[in-house]
Amino acid sequence: MSDFEPASRSPNGHLFRTSTVPSDAPFQRKPVRTSIKVFAKAARAALGLHDKEPAFEVPARLFEQLPFAIYVCDRNGLVLRYNRRAAELWGRSPKPSDPNERFCGSYQMFRPDGSLLPHDQCPMADVLRTGISVREQEVHIERPDGVRGIALVDIEAIKDIDGNIVGAVNCFQDITERKRSEAQIVNLAHEAEHRTKNILSTVLATVRLSRADTSDDLKQLIEGRINALAMVHGLFVQSRWAGAELRGLVTQELSPYCGESEGRVRIDGPPIMLEPATAQTVAICLHELATNAAKYGSLSAARGRVEIAWSRTADGRLSLRWIEAGGPTVTPPTRRGFGTRVMENIICQLKGEVHFDWHHHGLACEIAVPLA
Ligand SMILES: Nc1ncnc2c1ncn2[C@@H]1O[C@H](COP(=O)(O)OP(=O)(O)O)[C@@H](O)[C@H]1O
Ligand SMILES: [Mg+2]
Repeated sequence: MSDFEPASRSPNGHLFRTSTVPSDAPFQRKPVRTSIKVFAKAARAALGLHDKEPAFEVPARLFEQLPFAIYVCDRNGLVLRYNRRAAELWGRSPKPSDPNERFCGSYQMFRPDGSLLPHDQCPMADVLRTGISVREQEVHIERPDGVRGIALVDIEAIKDIDGNIVGAVNCFQDITERKRSEAQIVNLAHEAEHRTKNILSTVLATVRLSRADTSDDLKQLIEGRINALAMVHGLFVQSRWAGAELRGLVTQELSPYCGESEGRVRIDGPPIMLEPATAQTVAICLHELATNAAKYGSLSAARGRVEIAWSRTADGRLSLRWIEAGGPTVTPPTRRGFGTRVMENIICQLKGEVHFDWHHHGLACEIAVPLA
């Protein structure tokens, strides 16, 4: 079975494996690093350089059973020998000592920046030229079927008794899954930071807009609003997993902003039941729009208003309009923040569209998403 599986494209354009548990998982960096010197000696044997230590001759069966990929090149870069794991990572089995297969048995290689890495400039070629070992270098490998993975390579030069380079051995492992998890953790941390900032902004806006005659009344009012925010947050998390009725979603999301003055928030549209993916998208968009309105737009002003209206279009789509008025004068933003990018991404995933009109009297946003 191959170590590489169908890939999906990451935000930075690289392709990652989609499996959850790599078959090499228990064999992380250390065993490769500690074994490489032993196998450099073993490779001497493969090159016919007997160094009075027959114990280093590696039987073919052991070579095959190594828990990582390995191959040996001679001084000209001819690939003399490789194991099954190397063939799996490459997605191919080149003929040993084929003069057309130099330095590496992979189909194509790329640098971490995405540029093509020609075989004669790969780490193995460097080691054969300089004799300097390579430790834990990342190489992106493309198989003949176009699937890409990331390998961590350790290469050791093999020298004869006089110190001349006669070949090199490369021990490498598939770290595609590990890199994917690392990228996911960075994204999650970014999202958590964004959500915390949003919550704090909404709490600030809520406190700023609350007015009461006595301090006890004010305390009660603020408490009520913070509770409403907590409920919205709960609903927001829930709607990521279950479907929801659109009016309920809108009402809950806007409830902390309704305030004392009548007509601050107007909601208008027919009953529509949303399936989970659509509910999630709509909930996130409403959340981003409402927090932005509280931070920068109409809901940041005591007399500001927002109208949310929706309809089902003839071609079976949900058309939702968000219209702000009565807030500070709006100038079109010069930067797209995390919130805008999140909205655009999730709507695009649903094959929907979003459009922002930055009128000076308030933002108007139109969202269209297909209904099941
Ligand atoms: N309702 C709004 N009224 C006025 N300006 C807005 C509104 N919503 C967003 N903006 C502007 O658009 C920018 C980008 O918003 P967003 O992508 O949500 O990022 P963030 O909220 O992190 O600043 C904001 O910095 C702000 O200048
Ligand atoms: Mg925002």
